[in-house]
Amino acid sequence: MRALTISRHGGPEVLEVRTGPDPVPGPGQLRIRVARAGLNFADVSARVGLYPDAPKPPAVMGYEVSGTVDAVGPGVTTPPAGTTVLAMTRFGGQATHVVADARLTFPLPVGMTLDQAAALPVNYLTAHHLLHRVGGLQPGRSVLVHMAAGGVGLAAIQLARAVGGVTLFGTASAGKHSFLRQAGVDHPIDYRTQDWEAEVHRLTAGHGVDLILDALGGVDWERGYRSLAPAGHLACFGFANLVSGTTRSWPRVLWQLARVRRFSPLQLMNDNRTVSGSNLGHLFAEVALLGQAMKELFVLFREGRISPTVDRVFPLAEGAAAHRFLQERRNVGKVLFDCT
Ligand SMILES: NC(=O)c1ccc[n+]([C@@H]2O[C@H](COP(=O)([O-])OP(=O)(O)OC[C@H]3O[C@@H](n4cnc5c(N)ncnc54)[C@H](OP(=O)(O)O)[C@@H]3O)[C@@H](O)[C@H]2O)c1
Repeated sequence: MRALTISRHGGPEVLEVRTGPDPVPGPGQLRIRVARAGLNFADVSARVGLYPDAPKPPAVMGYEVSGTVDAVGPGVTTPPAGTTVLAMTRFGGQATHVVADARLTFPLPVGMTLDQAAALPVNYLTAHHLLHRVGGLQPGRSVLVHMAAGGVGLAAIQLARAVGGVTLFGTASAGKHSFLRQAGVDHPIDYRTQDWEAEVHRLTAGHGVDLILDALGGVDWERGYRSLAPAGHLACFGFANLVSGTTRSWPRVLWQLARVRRFSPLQLMNDNRTVSGSNLGHLFAEVALLGQAMKELFVLFREGRISPTVDRVFPLAEGAAAHRFLQERRNVGKVLFDCT
């Protein structure tokens, strides 16, 4: 097999396609001939050396794939070889072949393309978990989504729209605002030229928003907490502010970490606010929770209420270009690899 490999921590130039033996599925596993693999912000963080969950280099990243089952391990009866599937893979997905847990492998719903399938797991499961399980979103509420034109951001917007009667705020650079308006964002905010906190304050006449999805981290968590309406909820799920430039910068990391606010239960109680944390990568053992969420996402897909937005598909050999595209913030929606 061929696999996009992080040879060492550093800029996009450390990525190389390496060849090795095909992986062999163990008990409860199956092997997938990969058609498409998702690229996530976490993969960029891993390459830079700022993602503690990532395997040490040389490492093959890839949390999600679509393709065809081509071998099954002992005890696996479903899905059988030959089935077109999407799967969650805790690493190794950015390759021509990957081994996956059969319980986290799902036959494609009718009408879903291989591109859409590889764009679904991380972005939509994360957004679904944050909005429904963690955030308890109801009609009539307001939601602020940071990084709104990214993969998770657009998934969250579609899922919030599916609830109905939700007022949506989204931060993104100005060039992406018309796309966001069409996607259903009521109030796109250009965080590059405007103070987003002041803008939320102005747009809500000082009331604040009910739910904030924040994967920026650092000082933005503090500002988010201040921007909550009474009984509001700040859902923390990433720290993109740590990653800037193509290589790791310890001064920036330390400065950002120093700006992380400490929350006291007593203060949360008196402020009537909730702060939560979520990490999909640490939920892979929760197969029932993930399976149920995936089932609900497939229903929404069949009803036409969600549809993954794929921006670009790069050949596996152009890993560096794909990472640059994401890191230069040029994407609107998902970036994928063609692994055929
Ligand atoms: N905890 C979890 O389970 C989980 C799961 C998935 C993702 N995440 C996190 O969610 C965040 C979004 O992931 P994603 O895959 O949706 O991202 P993505 O598709 O790569 O989107 C990134 C977009 O966010 C905007 N942005 C704003 N501030 C940024 C910053 N400081 N650095 C980089 N981009 C910035 C940029 O658009 P503009 O042009 O608008 O600036 C950029 O195009 C990441 O922090 C990721 O680690 C967490």
